[in-house]
Amino acid sequence: MARKARAVLVLHGPNLNLLGAREPGVYGRATLAEVDRAIRRHARGRGLRVECRQSNSEGQLIDWVQDAERRGFAGIVLNPGALTHYSIALRDAVASVRVPVVEVHLSNVHGREEFRRHSVIAPVARGQISGFGAASYLLGIDALLDR
Ligand code: DQA
Repeated sequence: MARKARAVLVLHGPNLNLLGAREPGVYGRATLAEVDRAIRRHARGRGLRVECRQSNSEGQLIDWVQDAERRGFAGIVLNPGALTHYSIALRDAVASVRVPVVEVHLSNVHGREEFRRHSVIAPVARGQISGFGAASYLLGIDALLDR
């Protein structure tokens, strides 16, 4: 019997629905749909099932993090958007679950404004990948696989 493919949940936070149109000099010209397509292709090549979701709502992201294990996901790749820098609630959700979470960013948050250099999520995530554009998500998937 074929083994059930491991599943990874990819979560995009606030304003990432605007990718392609939003500050293309910082975030690139690829739309969220195109980024998700690249993520799905990458995951398929590694024998993984992947589900990509986006929300502008902090509570929705928290619910998805909390439910991930029950819904059979083995790991989460999370781009928390601006919530990275101040959401203690999302941080507490990440700290509360057993499912490993990798924090990713399209831009290099450490090379931008001072307020972006601090992540409240990073200390409770398995690690952070930042600055590689859409490839940050792909590297996040590989980091989960490697664990
Ligand atoms: C971001 C970086 C955040 O500082 C910003 O608020 C975002 C996108 C990134 O992917 O580079 O919305 O998470």
